[in-house]
Amino acid sequence: MIKVGIIGVGTVGTSVVNILKDNQEIISARAGTKIEVKSGVVRDLSKKRDLGILLSDNVNDVLDDPEIDIVVELMGGVEDAFGVVKHALKNKKAVVTANKALLAYHRYELQELAGDLAFEYEASVAGGIPIINALRDGLSANHIESIMGIMNGTCNYMLTKMSAEGVSYDAILKEAQELGYAEADPTFDVGGFDAAHKLLILASIAYGIDAKPEDILIEGIQNISQEDINFAKEFGYRIKLLGIAKKDANQVELRVHASLIDEDEMIAKIDGVMNGISVVGDKVGETLYYGAGAGGNATASAVIANIIDIARSGKSKPMLGFDKPLEGGLKLKSIDEIVSKYYLRINVSDKAGVLSKITTIFANHNISIETILQRPSRDASANLLISTHTAVEKDIQNMIQNIEELDFVNSKPVMIRIV
Ligand code: NAP
Ligand code: HSE
Repeated sequence: MIKVGIIGVGTVGTSVVNILKDNQEIISARAGTKIEVKSGVVRDLSKKRDLGILLSDNVNDVLDDPEIDIVVELMGGVEDAFGVVKHALKNKKAVVTANKALLAYHRYELQELAGDLAFEYEASVAGGIPIINALRDGLSANHIESIMGIMNGTCNYMLTKMSAEGVSYDAILKEAQELGYAEADPTFDVGGFDAAHKLLILASIAYGIDAKPEDILIEGIQNISQEDINFAKEFGYRIKLLGIAKKDANQVELRVHASLIDEDEMIAKIDGVMNGISVVGDKVGETLYYGAGAGGNATASAVIANIIDIARSGKSKPMLGFDKPLEGGLKLKSIDEIVSKYYLRINVSDKAGVLSKITTIFANHNISIETILQRPSRDASANLLISTHTAVEKDIQNMIQNIEELDFVNSKPVMIRIV
């Protein structure tokens, strides 16, 4: 019998408890032993819950319980959660977590601290999709050339609904929260940080690169408007929040941002809360992973897979899948050097000479325009919708700054990269 203690019995923790009950027989058969949740910890004991397990509001009741073999951390946050998992490891307990924010900051220290103890985190990236398993084990014979995909269910759900139904941004965000997809602080989702945390975890497994969220390009979907969505449709694109990791010689490019993707690409067709990640290995070629990226049951499915795995063998693996530096130590590519095609929406006063001044600025920054559309509105302003040929990030950023300072430009231009 394996005894589990769960720290944080909210959306995911509740599903873990329920699935361990509902699927008890098949889980025991696969684990080779019975798995029982001995107790759980929550912040507020007065909330009404119907879980059928012992609850406490003191993490030490689980962490110091000698009968508990596996501590499952599902409380979220960074530093408190770090304290909890360190305490569990100190007490020689195996750990399972779904906490990507924790891993985005402390994964290398945790690999060190875990040593021979099992430390698993399948649910931290892409909810129910076994992407950690695929990347760390299934593709371990390959040099990983790129990882690209939709890694945040909340944003994909929101963009899908904005595109299909024209529903307002705030209303859909509320819906995603009610469905249990969003983080406790949803700016982590819409600001791109959650996807960045996941990308950093994948990039560590693929490239051994130790980057923090502050080191990489992270943008969210807060500025995407119905007008951008309509432009995308008109020109055969879809807008998705993508996480991208690409190896280029001895450098790795890591970025998260809203992206215009050709509507015929597989990733463009991934809608709703679904996530989809493409991983290209030098020997295997392209592989694709698709499934529910958020939600209690999908995420708990991955958490329980880790519990079963530990119950079967009790053995640890190197947490990130390597013991020695990978690829001779790759460096992070500077954000300025990123190369892409771009789309810009520039709101201007609709008067003579404006268009020619804007196009001159593009030329002065060595940026070649591919398409240009002007959409006038009733208030004597107009939106210029411009897509470019391939350009360098530094040039685009300088140009946007230049454009923003012009007296006939009414607001900061919106930029979306074309992937
Ligand atoms: P949640 O619904 O907010 O649940 C968090 C739970 O932790 C609650 O039971 C809360 O207690 C408890 N808690 C929070 N701080 C605590 C503290 N200091 N001490 C003791 N208990 C504490 O969150 P969730 O959606 O289940 O997410 C849990 C983790 O899984 C997060 O790291 C999240 O990023 C990750 N994750 C979530 C999803 C998803 O789809 N939801 C998917 C993948 C990964 P109360 O109930 O009393 O408030
Ligand atoms: N908030 C996250 C998302 C949960 O929407 O993808 C899954 O990690």
